[in-house]
Amino acid sequence: MRKSLGPKPIIYPMPVLIISAYDENDVPNAMNAAWGTICDTSKIAIVLSHDHKTVKNIFLKKAFTVSIADKENVIPADFVGIVSGNNEPDKMKKRAGV
Ligand SMILES: Cc1cc2nc3c(=O)[nH]c(=O)nc-3n(C[C@H](O)[C@H](O)[C@H](O)COP(=O)(O)O)c2cc1C
Repeated sequence: MRKSLGPKPIIYPMPVLIISAYDENDVPNAMNAAWGTICDTSKIAIVLSHDHKTVKNIFLKKAFTVSIADKENVIPADFVGIVSGNNEPDKMKKRAGV
């Protein structure tokens, strides 16, 4: 039987996107974004907090990449979502499992 859950943000699965961008020294950084999806044939929508290092890089370079992690890279893919380049300048070198 159909049950109303009310207006909640609970459409699953939500694949985690890996958003990456370079800083002013062309050092790459990456982060997780679960709040993202395709929204047109040539567009995606992503909801990113402005204080992430990756987001600062996107505004700086006006460019970014979007990737989807595969099974082999699940540990480094998780790492980039829990460590910030704001606090860890060597984040991408230290990413776990690489
Ligand atoms: C599973 C998962 C999903 C996330 N989704 C988002 C998201 O959609 N938007 C966002 O702003 N942050 C999201 N985050 C948080 C950032 O990925 C996280 O704060 C990251 O460390 C930022 O890295 P940076 O400061 O080096 O860019 C998510 C984190 C995880 C673990």
